[in-house]
Parts: sequence; C-alpha cells; structure tokens
Amino acid sequence: MALVLFMIVTLMLQLQMKGCVGCLKTERMGLLQLKSYLKNGFKVEEEGMMKSWSHDDPSSDCCHWERVKCSDATGGHLVYLSLIGLTPANYELESQSLNLSLLHSFPRLQSLDLSFNKFSDLFDPINGTLNSNFFVTFNHVKSIQGAVLPSSLHVLDLAENQLSSSPKEICALMNLRELNLRSNALTNLPYCLANLSRLRTLDLSGNQMNGDLSSFVSGLPSALEYLSLFDNDFNGSFCFSSLANHTRLTVFMLSSKVGMIQAQAETSWFPPFQLKMLKLKNFNLGSTIPSFLAHQHDLRLIHITYSQLKVPFPGWLVQNNTRLESIILNNNLLTELRLPRLVHGLQYLDISSNRIYDSIPEDIGIVFPHLKFMNFSSNHNRGTIPSSMGEMKRLELLDMSSNRLYGQLPETFLRGCYSLVFLKLSNNQLQGKVFPRHANLTRLNSLILNGNRFDGSLGKGLLNSKTLELLDISDNSFSGPLPYWIGKMSNLSFLYMRGNKLKGQVPHQLQNLPLLVLDMSNNSFSGSIPRNLNVIYLSELRLHSNEFMGSVPSYLFKSEVLQVLDLRHNSLSGVILNTTIGKTSDLVALLLGNNSFQTHIPEKICQLSNVSLLDLSHNKFKGAIPSCLVKMSFGAQTNHYLFTPYYFGLGFEFVLSWSYKSAFDLVDTEAELGIQSSPETTVNFFSKSRYETYQGGILRDMYGLDLSSNQLSGEIPAEVWDLKNIRSLNFSSNRLTGSIPDSISKLENLESLDLSNNKLHGNIPPQLADLNNLGYFNVSYNNLSGEIPFKAHLMTFDEKSYRGNPHLCGRPTNKSCNLEGATETSASKRATEEEEEGDGVIDMVWFYWTCGAVYITTSLALFAFLCIDSRWSREWFYRVDVLVHHLQRFKDGFICN
Ligand SMILES: *[C@@H]1O[C@H](CO)[C@@H](O)[C@H](O)[C@H]1NC(C)=O
Ligand SMILES: *[C@@H]1O[C@H](CO)[C@@H](O)[C@H](O)[C@H]1NC(C)=O
Ligand SMILES: *[C@@H]1O[C@H](CO)[C@@H](O)[C@H](O)[C@H]1NC(C)=O
Ligand SMILES: *[C@@H]1O[C@H](CO)[C@@H](O)[C@H](O)[C@H]1NC(C)=O
Ligand SMILES: *[C@@H]1O[C@H](CO)[C@@H](O)[C@H](O)[C@H]1NC(C)=O
Ligand SMILES: *[C@@H]1O[C@H](CO)[C@@H](O)[C@H](O)[C@H]1NC(C)=O
Ligand SMILES: *[C@@H]1O[C@H](CO)[C@@H](O)[C@H](O)[C@H]1NC(C)=O
Ligand SMILES: *[C@@H]1O[C@H](CO)[C@@H](O)[C@H](O)[C@H]1NC(C)=O
Ligand SMILES: *[C@@H]1O[C@H](CO)[C@@H](O)[C@H](O)[C@H]1NC(C)=O
Repeated sequence: MALVLFMIVTLMLQLQMKGCVGCLKTERMGLLQLKSYLKNGFKVEEEGMMKSWSHDDPSSDCCHWERVKCSDATGGHLVYLSLIGLTPANYELESQSLNLSLLHSFPRLQSLDLSFNKFSDLFDPINGTLNSNFFVTFNHVKSIQGAVLPSSLHVLDLAENQLSSSPKEICALMNLRELNLRSNALTNLPYCLANLSRLRTLDLSGNQMNGDLSSFVSGLPSALEYLSLFDNDFNGSFCFSSLANHTRLTVFMLSSKVGMIQAQAETSWFPPFQLKMLKLKNFNLGSTIPSFLAHQHDLRLIHITYSQLKVPFPGWLVQNNTRLESIILNNNLLTELRLPRLVHGLQYLDISSNRIYDSIPEDIGIVFPHLKFMNFSSNHNRGTIPSSMGEMKRLELLDMSSNRLYGQLPETFLRGCYSLVFLKLSNNQLQGKVFPRHANLTRLNSLILNGNRFDGSLGKGLLNSKTLELLDISDNSFSGPLPYWIGKMSNLSFLYMRGNKLKGQVPHQLQNLPLLVLDMSNNSFSGSIPRNLNVIYLSELRLHSNEFMGSVPSYLFKSEVLQVLDLRHNSLSGVILNTTIGKTSDLVALLLGNNSFQTHIPEKICQLSNVSLLDLSHNKFKGAIPSCLVKMSFGAQTNHYLFTPYYFGLGFEFVLSWSYKSAFDLVDTEAELGIQSSPETTVNFFSKSRYETYQGGILRDMYGLDLSSNQLSGEIPAEVWDLKNIRSLNFSSNRLTGSIPDSISKLENLESLDLSNNKLHGNIPPQLADLNNLGYFNVSYNNLSGEIPFKAHLMTFDEKSYRGNPHLCGRPTNKSCNLEGATETSASKRATEEEEEGDGVIDMVWFYWTCGAVYITTSLALFAFLCIDSRWSREWFYRVDVLVHHLQRFKDGFICN
C-alpha cells in the first residue's frame, strides 16, 4: 500500500516538476541522509562543505544545491553528483570507506565523482558486501544481484583514492562511457572492463598493475578513444598490434614505473586509427621507432622517453605530422639531429639527454621558427650555436646546458630571440662578453651561464634584461670589479658569482636589490663586508674565499630570514657579536672558519638558537668553550621548510598538449611549464676529515660543531655530551684538558668525532664502542691511557686513531696491556684467550651487521636525498590538484539541464 502511495506521490511530484521546478523528495531525503553520513562517520571538513544541503528550508530546491545537477530530460532526477575531495587534504590521513547503499536514492544518476578521497573501500550492505578485495574474491560476484552503483551511470570518477581492486560492479555498468581510476592501488588488470562496449575514456594510470598487457589491451572495447596505462608496475612485453581493433583510438599512454616494458616483435599490421597523442616511457623499443607510426599523420604530441631509441631524430615523423606541436624524446640514445625538409610549426622540442654528438644543423631556426621551448641539454654536443636560431622569435625557454658548445653567442641570437624568458647554457665552453650592447633579451627572467669561459667584466647589454630575477655566472672567468649599475636590476633576487676573478669592493648599489641569495664566494673581493645589504629577504649570504677584512657587521644577526652565513676563508677579525641578537634569528649555518678572530667565543652566540652547523675552526679563539652552546639547536628543533628551493613563475605557460575532451581533467600536465626553482642550497662542512657537501633533506638533518685549530683551553663542557642529535664534533688541535666522559654514549647519531691534538687524559670509555654510526674517530696525540675498548664498532678503526698517546695499550696498537699482570697461571691465561677468541668471533659478526646497518642507513639517506623530502610539496600539489579539478567541474554551474 505504502509503496503504491509513494509511487503515486512521486509521479505527481514528477509531473509537477515539468520545467525546472525542483528536486524529487526521495532524492532530497537521500542527499540529506548522505550528508549526515558523511558528517558523522567521516571526518569531513565541515566548513564550506555542502553548506547548501540544508534541512532547515524545506522550500529550497535540492537541484540548486552545490555538487548536484538535475535534468528535465529525466523528469527532474538527479543526474550529477560530486563528492570530490571530501576528506581533508591532510597527507597522513588513513583510508576511508563509503557506504554505496546511500546512492540507491538516485536511480538516474549519470555522472558520479568520488575522486580525491581516500576511499579504500566501497561497500553496499543492502545489495551485497563489496570490499577492496573484491577482485580477489571473485566468487562473490554471484551473490550480488543487480547493480550496486546506479546502472544509468555514464561517467564515473574514482581518481586519487586507494582502491586496491576495481569493484566488479563497475563492469556491470553497461552505460559507462568514461571511467577514471587514476592513482589508486590496483594490482590486477581489470579484464572485465571488456564488457563495457560503450567505454570511450579509460584512465588506469598511476596504479600498480602488472600482467599480460597485450591480451588485456586487445580485449578492451573497440569504442575506446582514450587509454592511459601510464605509471604502472608492468615488467612484461607489449605488442602494438594488440591495438589493431581500436578503430577510434586517439590517445594512448603506457609506461612502467618499476621496470622496462619490452616491445614484442610484430607481424605487419595496419593501424585503423589516427592517434593525436602517444606517450611511452620506460619502454624498450629495441632501438627502433614502432612501425605503425609510419602511418600516422595527425599526431599533436609524441612523448617517448627512457626507451632506448637509438635512431637519428625522426625528422620524417615531424614531416608526416604537419600539425605536431610537441615532440619529447629525452633520455634515449638518439644519434643525430635530422631535421625535416620543410618549415614546420613545431612548438616544443625536448631531445635532452641523448647522444647527439654532432653539431646542431645550421638551418634549425629556419625549419622550426615557431619553437617556444627547446631543451637540448646533456648531449655532449660539439659545435657552436647556429646563428639561424635568431629566427626563433617566439622562443621562450632554451636549455642547452651540459654540451660542449664553444664560441660566442651569435649576435643574431642575442638580438632575435627576444622572447626568451629562460636561458640556460651552463657547463659548455662558450666564451665572450655577457652581454654586448646589441643584446635585446628584454623578457629574460633567468640567465644561467655557470661553468663556461665567459670573461671580461659584465657588459651593459645585460641592463636590457631589466626583469632578470636569477643570474648565475659562477665558474667563469669574469674579472674586474662588479659594476655599480647592477643596482639597477631591480628584480634580481638570486645572484650567483662564485668562482670568478672579480675583485674590488662590493658596490653599495647592491643594497637596491631584493636579494634572497647572494653568492660571491671564491673571488678576490676585498674591503669590508657590505654594511648595508637589504636583508629583508636575504636567506643566504656566501662570501667565503675572498679577501674581506674587518668585523662581521651586526645587522646580519638581526635578520629574521638569514639561514646561511658563510664567511669562511677571509681575513675577518674583531668581536663577532657585540650586539643584541634578533629574538627570531633563523640562522642555521654559521660558518666563520679560517679567519683571524682572536677573542673568546662570546656567550651571545648561544642566542642564535636555530644554529645547527657552527664552524669557528682555524681562528685564534681562546679561553674556554662556552657551556651555553647546548642552547643552540644542533637538531633539537627540526624545520622541514628549511632549504627548500624557491619556486618562481616565469610568467608564461605551455599548454601544448592536445587535450582530449572528457568529463575528466585529462590535460597532460608534463608539458606545462613556466615554473622554475632556484638552485638547491648546499653547504660544505668539514666532517669525517674532509669537506662534505650537504643538500636537501640531508642538509636539514646535518648537525655539526667544528671548533678545531684554535687556542681553546679548559675542559670540554659536560653539556656538549647532551647534544644528542649531533653528527659531527671536531675539537681537534686546541689545548683542551679533562677526560672523555661515559656519557658520550648518548650521542647516538655521531658520525665523526675528532678530539686529536689536545691534552685529554684518562681512559677511553668502553661506551664509545656503542656509537654504531661513527665513521671517523680520532683521539690521537693526547694523554689518554689504559686499554683501548677494542670491541663492537670501535673495531673499525685502526691504530692511526690512537697514535701519540704513549699510555694507551691493547689492540689495535701493538702494545700489550699485560706487562704488569704477568702473575696469572698459564691455565687461566689460556681460558682468557679462548674467551677473547670467542668474543672476537661474536664481535666480527657484530661488525658485519653494523657495516650492513651503516651501508643501509647510507643508502637510505641517499635515497631520501634523491626524493628531497617532498612531503610538503606533495601536500601542496595535492591541494592544487583538488582545486583545479574542482574549478574545472563546477565551472558549468548548477542549473537544471
Ligand atoms: C549504509 O546505508 C544504508 C542505507 O542508508 C543503511 O541501511 C546501512 O545501515 C548503512 N550501513 C553502514 C555500515 O553505514
Ligand atoms: C538491489 O538488488 C535488488 C535485487 O536483489 C534489485 O532489485 C535492486 O534494483 C538493487 N538495487 C540497486 C540500487 O541496484
Ligand atoms: C561479460 O559479461 C558476461 C555476461 O554478462 C560474462 O559471462 C562474462 O564473464 C563477462 N566478461 C568478463 C571478461 O568479465
Ligand atoms: C615481473 O614481476 C613479477 C612479480 O613482480 C615476477 O614474478 C616476474 O618474474 C617479473 N618478470 C620479468 C620479465 O621480470
Ligand atoms: C580483432 O577482431 C577480430 C574480429 O573480431 C578478431 O578475430 C581479432 O583477433 C581481433 N584482433 C585483436 C588484436 O584483438
Ligand atoms: C611518413 O614517413 C615515412 C618515412 O618517410 C613514409 O614511409 C610514410 O609513407 C609517411 N607516411 C605518411 C602518412 O605520410
Ligand atoms: C632539460 O632536460 C634536462 C634533462 O632531461 C632536465 O634535467 C632539465 O630540467 C630540462 N630543462 C628544463 C628547463 O626543463
Ligand atoms: C627588441 O625586442 C623587442 C621585443 O621585446 C622588439 O620589439 C624589438 O624590435 C627588438 N629590437 C631589436 C633592435 O631587435
Ligand atoms: C660593536 O662593534 C662596533 C665595531 O666593531 C663598534 O662600533 C660598536 O661600538 C660596538 N658596540 C658595542 C655595543 O660594543
């Protein structure tokens, strides 16, 4: 009865709803139920989330609620529902599940967006239990009747979740046109998708799938236009002819992120499709270009990277495809740059990291006059820059770094390429003036010329590039003084000049620049350290290895943003700090070694509470080591934002890829550029008896104190042994007295300990042997005595670590400790020997384990360094992704129809 009544009511409502009257009551109820489920069970961010979904106003039309659309064509039914990005973007958040039963209220739904959530589980307690193991428990299929998801669905977006298998139910959605499962955790190839005969767009990128690719692809519905299998875990082979039945294919993307996909030899076949975009990566193509490409003439984007292509640059492919916009063939083995024999409209050319040793064809600028982006770096290419490149009037980004280019920059180039925003020519053998007056690079933002042979003083032609933000002329042969007009480059924020022959005083006009990084190291600058730099933004000041004299100006310590102050290897003297220090000093690396300081180490230095790398070595500091050093950070605080490169927009953007029309955001983001980062911060620090270079995450985790080669006296303050994060301690070559305390074992992370050339006495505490990370250890030339605790980790150090201590004995020195204890009976002696041998064996095992541990730690550290702690950036990009996605989806508004 109730059901009949309900149906009548619904019918009436539906009739009433001709036009754009309002939503159905059941659907309204359904939405409210969904909201309360999400609000309770789910840690949904409340603010701004589904605000308009409200109980309070019964007259409000749910078709006008956010995230929802209705359609008159379906009698006012809800046709679109978006639950995108419900969970806070919090990176750590655990996975979520979603009760699909709540979607039963929307029987005519055509488009459902569940992307950017952390769903690992979609379940439907009413029409069967589904979980992420669904594919594995294949047998459950029978127990589920009817579709769990509305069978009316055309578009289903499950991107950026944590589904480990695509629910079987998807394969029952016979109306599905578009399916997005990008960035989930799928491991098996979803063969059942073969049944979705209407499927047009399928994105399975960013999963962990592996399996028989060819049979999977050939089985997919022939209506397919867009197929992405990018970034999966494939390691088998693939045969391009398995695409032979996909007559409508326009976009095909395939790559492996763990191994190499092998191209399978194929019998001849004729592609029935004309691709617009092809993207392959980590695909061993057997050093040839897939033969079907000879039949393609409508390509817009070709991207084949890390695929061992060992052919000349395929000029014919560019020639065949007259509408080609982008060709990206970096990291292959291309042998030669063979250009097409006609003028072509190509805009984006990346052939970096290949083996094109021959010089660049003279006519490149005539063949590709429309290029906007050209990356030709790392080809070991000999030759000069062709003067025809001056024809590339639209060129915005040019990277030809790491080749063997020689000669001067052609005048045509400096005049003609006036659209250049980014120019990188580092690590070549180029020479001449930077820039002569005729240079007209008026839009230049970043100019990176380090590692060449440019010489003379900076030329006034550079002043035409008024918008320059980053200038790197390090490691060239520039000479003479720094011109005062540099102060007119009012955007210059990153200035790197290290390793030249520049000299003279620093012009005071430098104070006009909004500098973030100033690196003048390894030159012959003299005079005093600039007294008036603009320190509002300055985060790195590097003046080491020059001829600066006088004292360190105190304003530098008042800065709140300065992180690295490197003044090593100058002739500085005076009192370091005779001023009050800014409470919020951010200084992390204070490097004053190899100067002429002669005072006590001032207690005030301890107020620089964020310092974690302190180098005062090779001066004449005298008196005691202040015990307050323990107030400095040395790892007590960790700041994940430290030393992250600065990103800055270049003021242009490439959206070159032909983008496929779809409900999903399927733009190829790899072709979008226009952001550059500053070079990464590196710091050299003396540890393990040599200068080591630290950068990225490793730098953030490096804590060291170097007071070596001074005239310090007294005992090492006990507090020093409380610096439990410290990795490198160097007190060598001073006049320190006292003994090494047992509490040294607290310094678990210590990697380098140098106490040599002092006046320390007493025993070496056996606890030292527990410091498993120690890679360098030196106590030579002291007055230490007693038996060396030669066990565990200390067995890795030889006699050199101990020499010059006449009263030390035992291994590894060849001095026996048993001289006075000679009264023992021979039997007990033998027993001890046996015991010792036993110890020895265990210790060797220990030793191997430790070596292993150290090796693994080092590898992990290296790995960490390669990943450059991207957690925060990932979080950031995730948020940006969600936002972009949001905007794209909601831009059409919420009107009926
Ligand atoms: C899922 O939703 C259905 C329909 O609203 C409800 O009956 C069921 O109790 C829910 N189950 C869970 C576990 O939330
Ligand atoms: C649930 O299953 C029943 C049959 O058991 C079917 O009639 C009903 O349509 C299914 N519900 C949905 C939303 O598919
Ligand atoms: C396709 O559907 C048919 C019947 O609906 C079923 O028997 C078959 O197993 C399905 N194919 C795949 C690959 O799941
Ligand atoms: C591919 O990976 C699987 C599992 O990871 C492994 O069993 C198989 O041997 C690999 N195949 C090749 C060709 O490397
Ligand atoms: C293409 O379709 C034909 C006819 O349905 C079939 O015989 C052939 O095996 C299919 N080819 C591939 C590569 O799937
Ligand atoms: C493309 O170029 C190749 C090699 O020059 C040629 O064999 C082929 O016929 C061309 N294809 C088209 C469609 O022009
Ligand atoms: C040019 O290519 C190299 C190597 O493939 C890459 O490291 C570099 O970032 C690229 N340059 C630009 C400006 O994108
Ligand atoms: C210099 O560049 C501008 C564009 O930035 C251009 O309009 C002008 O013609 C160029 N001047 C010369 C002399 O080439
Ligand atoms: C700090 O030193 C500078 C120069 O070294 C000197 O002019 C100034 O008076 C000193 N300030 C104090 C408070 O001693």
